[in-house]
Amino acid sequence: MKSVITGSGIGVPKNVVRNEALTRLMDTTEEWIRTRSGIEERRYADPGQGSAELGSIAAEAALADARRSKKEIDAVIFATMTPNFYFPGNGPVLQAKMGFPETIPTFDIRQQCSGFLYGLDLADSLIQSGKYRRLLLIGADVHTPFMPWEMGWESTIGGTARELTPEEYAFNTSIRDRTVLFGDGAGAVVVESSEDGDRGFIAAKLFTDGSNIEALYVPGVGFRRRPYVDKEQVERAEPIPVMEGREVFKQAVSRMPESVRAVCAAAGVNVTDIDLLMVHQANLRIVEGVGKALALPSEKVPHNIERYGNTTAGTLPILYHECVRDGRIKPGMLICFTALGSGLHWGAALYRT
Ligand code: UT7
Repeated sequence: MKSVITGSGIGVPKNVVRNEALTRLMDTTEEWIRTRSGIEERRYADPGQGSAELGSIAAEAALADARRSKKEIDAVIFATMTPNFYFPGNGPVLQAKMGFPETIPTFDIRQQCSGFLYGLDLADSLIQSGKYRRLLLIGADVHTPFMPWEMGWESTIGGTARELTPEEYAFNTSIRDRTVLFGDGAGAVVVESSEDGDRGFIAAKLFTDGSNIEALYVPGVGFRRRPYVDKEQVERAEPIPVMEGREVFKQAVSRMPESVRAVCAAAGVNVTDIDLLMVHQANLRIVEGVGKALALPSEKVPHNIERYGNTTAGTLPILYHECVRDGRIKPGMLICFTALGSGLHWGAALYRT
């Protein structure tokens, strides 16, 4: 018995924000963003549109694609590091929003950029256990709530542009290494048990190393603090993520290839057998670096970061969906998903279409 993806869908906001729009807010250039990250534009959610809203759009589309009704789903897994509320997670928010029967349990997982990858392995494990036959897996994140909207960011989504004060411009510049990289978006898949030959999930290798959490984390707003959030933390901008870009880059271009090799070895296939390598979209140079480290030709390593930026748990399901839609994913292909992100969590999974 195999776990098979029977449908996919995406939920991306309508607001397209090109690099040029960000150059008005901080000391950056269109060229820096494009050449250092590959990003040309990203999507920003409307006010009131959180990861649960985008996730619901993706989930409805995935259900329609799989031709499944809500009643036919046995459980939901929602991967996000940016839930609508601190608690509960997005599972119950989605349940109420979409009208899932209360008999369908919802699991909330985080794992940041590796959220969808971990979710896939969890979905397969739950199916293999025999407990559930059909799951809905959502990967969604919104990064705009991390942005300092009081510093003139409304202009990016159609609000009036205004002259920034030197202090506002300096603050935006102090976080430019992160803000230019991220966008909002969601993807979802329906995963079902199937006896359809070789088709389906083959294996995953997942890893965690918490020895350098500070490489990518949110320093404020945590429950080691009393209170867990206060005015001073906000003034010190501690709710904004901190990232050692070069360190994460280095980890990404070594750990992802290692995990792809490990999962191929576990499954008894060669890396060269991979037809399509779906790499978490954090930076085009990382995506290309991972492909190069594995000696895979560029046509086997698709990317869409130029249009969405990094949507964290959203990147892999959005990329998967677009590759199915444009015919790059065909029946019988060997696909490998790989991701690395905050934690650090990383890994790879093999899947036969
Ligand atoms: O999803 C997983 C999490 N994230 C990642 O995987 C991201 C991994 N890291 C990266 O993608 C890259 O390290 C970045 C895109 C964040 C940065 O690229 P880089 O080539 O590693 O640049 P850098 O950090 O070495 O910085 C080079 C220069 C610095 O100036 P100085 O010190 O050389 O004068 C930065 O201050 O670029 C400057 N810089 C910028 N300049 C214009 C940093 N951000 C910007 C910016 N615009 N937005």
